[in-house]
Amino acid sequence: MGPVRSVLLLLAMAACACGVWAQDPCVECHAAQELEETEEFHLRQWRNSAHAAAGVSCANCHGGNTSTFVKLRAHKGVLNSAHRDSPTNHWNLPQTCGRCHDAEYRALQQSAHFALLERRVHAAPTCRTCHGSVAAQSLGVEGGLQARCNRCHGPGADHEVVGFPGEEGQEALARGGRNLARLRSLGRQRSEVSRGVLRLRNPAQRHEAADALYAINAHWDEAIEAGHAFHWGDWESALDAMESAIGELRSAMEAGGDH
Ligand code: HEC
Ligand code: HEC
Ligand code: HEC
Ligand code: HEC
Ligand code: HEC
Repeated sequence: MGPVRSVLLLLAMAACACGVWAQDPCVECHAAQELEETEEFHLRQWRNSAHAAAGVSCANCHGGNTSTFVKLRAHKGVLNSAHRDSPTNHWNLPQTCGRCHDAEYRALQQSAHFALLERRVHAAPTCRTCHGSVAAQSLGVEGGLQARCNRCHGPGADHEVVGFPGEEGQEALARGGRNLARLRSLGRQRSEVSRGVLRLRNPAQRHEAADALYAINAHWDEAIEAGHAFHWGDWESALDAMESAIGELRSAMEAGGDH
């Protein structure tokens, strides 16, 4: 830490009563450090994430004590992710994410890939392959993700190790990409009809529409789970069901003409 930064940090600590530190010592102190590029990136990814917006912070994944500004005490229990007992260690991460995202974690456990993870195959897809370590982002199949899937399913992959024919693998990827595109499109349509439902004035109609939305959300959850289990067929069935439920709700609202 440079001398100027240290002084600023001390000033900030002296001004502790202002309440800034009461927010989150981990974030405040780390942001005040002279960070390596990777950590700067980590912090930026976190700041721009749904996690930061929802108040999911450093200690939720890393552990530690958030009620102190004294580094040694704050770091009690915090381990570098290279340590095998760290909650952010590669092999422990699904479980750490799964503490809050139980459905996705359980679904992933059903997939052939989880068996690979259990055999310590590092390249096997895990939460951060698709979502990043902190960003809660979603990579599309076409982007960097495809290359990672191709390591095993691509044309040049070592199929003796993987036991999954190249052409079949390519077809699985293409099908996954189509499902993902449909999921995103249906997600947008769901937001659209939800806004329509909010505008309904007839109470009976609104009540019915709310029930329909509930069913649509249930199909969304089914789709998310099937996707995480890599069960492409179930994923497609859930998307079909969601699509027709949205269609029906739309026609019902148009027929009602009350919005
Ligand atoms: C007063 C400043 C300060 C506070 C508060 C603080 N940290 Fe740190 N943290 C640092 C510094 C500086 C480092 C760099 C390594 C070192 O000096 O220990 C670091 C390193 C780390 C590392 C890397 C550890 C490693 O072994 O590579 C993690 C993870 C971490 N902090 C998480 C947290 C979490 C979670 C909290 C809150 C519970 C927190 N920190 C609170 C200053 C702080
Ligand atoms: C959603 C979980 C999650 C959150 C929230 C999170 N991190 Fe991390 N962090 C990780 C993971 C996983 C790694 C392991 C390396 C990687 O995958 O980037 C990591 C790595 C690090 C490292 C590098 C040292 C190491 O142990 O590998 C530091 C330092 C760090 N995080 C600090 C923070 C700070 C500070 C915050 C809050 C601003 C934070 N992290 C929030 C998951 C998280
Ligand atoms: C302490 C609980 C907690 C932990 C641990 C946690 N998350 Fe989250 N996550 C949340 C909350 C809360 C949200 C925002 C609310 C929501 O959309 O459900 C969220 C949102 C997400 C989203 C959706 C983002 C969006 O745009 O809708 C993804 C993807 C995600 N988390 C992945 C992960 C991954 C991967 C990990 C582990 C590296 C992880 N989460 C760890 C609580 C957590
Ligand atoms: C093969 C890639 C992949 C893996 C591995 C993966 N996910 Fe996802 N996840 C997705 C996709 C795709 C979506 C759909 C959201 C989107 O992309 O628009 C999603 C959505 C989510 C959401 C948001 C659900 C919602 O209702 O909007 C959460 C939370 C989540 N994943 C958590 C996890 C966790 C935790 C793990 C690890 C146990 C994990 N994911 C592993 C691809 C993946
Ligand atoms: C480390 C190698 C590896 C990577 C990387 C990998 N897979 Fe797989 N995948 C496998 C193996 C092994 C199987 C099981 C093949 C079998 O049982 O015949 C499999 C099976 C599948 C299946 C069939 C569903 C199932 O559960 O049986 C799909 C779909 C699939 N992978 C898609 C993907 C996608 C999408 C990615 C990228 C996010 C990916 N794979 C990355 C090794 C990998």
